[in-house]
Amino acid sequence: MNKIAGGFFLTLEGGDGVGKSTLQHALNQRIIDAGFEVVMCREPGGTILGEKLREALLGSNKNEVDSLAELLVFLAARTQLSKEIIKPALERGAVVICDRFTDSSIAYQHYGRGIEKSIIEDLNTIATAGRIPDRTILLDLDPSIGAKRKEQAQDYMEQEAIDFHNRVREGYMQLANESPERWLIVDALQNEDVVFDLVWSDVAQRIKD
Ligand code: TYD
Repeated sequence: MNKIAGGFFLTLEGGDGVGKSTLQHALNQRIIDAGFEVVMCREPGGTILGEKLREALLGSNKNEVDSLAELLVFLAARTQLSKEIIKPALERGAVVICDRFTDSSIAYQHYGRGIEKSIIEDLNTIATAGRIPDRTILLDLDPSIGAKRKEQAQDYMEQEAIDFHNRVREGYMQLANESPERWLIVDALQNEDVVFDLVWSDVAQRIKD
């Protein structure tokens, strides 16, 4: 098994229905084929506590959840996931692919809900002990197309007005443009094989170096 000193932490970000989980599974297989250990996780979730918090939050009705309470639930799930799964996996030299991480809270709870950015940044630092992903993929897509792609019933976040989702999309773009060395922006309107090839050629050179 190939190991990477300190591991490699890859996060997938973007609006709802942009294809993160399809991409995550395709990357998982390709990285295993390249001889590395891969740990896949998602937020909120990925631990027993995190999955319970996910169910409690995303199973709620719109208008039932206070914005700050919502933020703190995401942060509680993130704290557990960071300590229990992500840190040990990276210390083993694995590749961790996480479907959403700290940037989701900035995009949704700051740009979407309007909570002060510095508060979320501080909480993110506490929850993750300051960990920053090595690489973050932004799958960018018009939210109205993302909503149509989702087959299952919409959770309360997805039922938010289109304006909310447009602010989230613009927020992501801003985050990516502020730290271009960490982010790769991919047009998620493209065919999923094209998206995969673009991301794989970017990631492969980083984990094999
Ligand atoms: P999920 O079903 O995983 O959505 P998706 O498949 O689009 O990733 O639900 C997660 C929802 O929670 C999604 O709408 C984004 C939102 N979210 C936040 O608002 N803040 C956060 O910090 C995280 C991790 C997720």
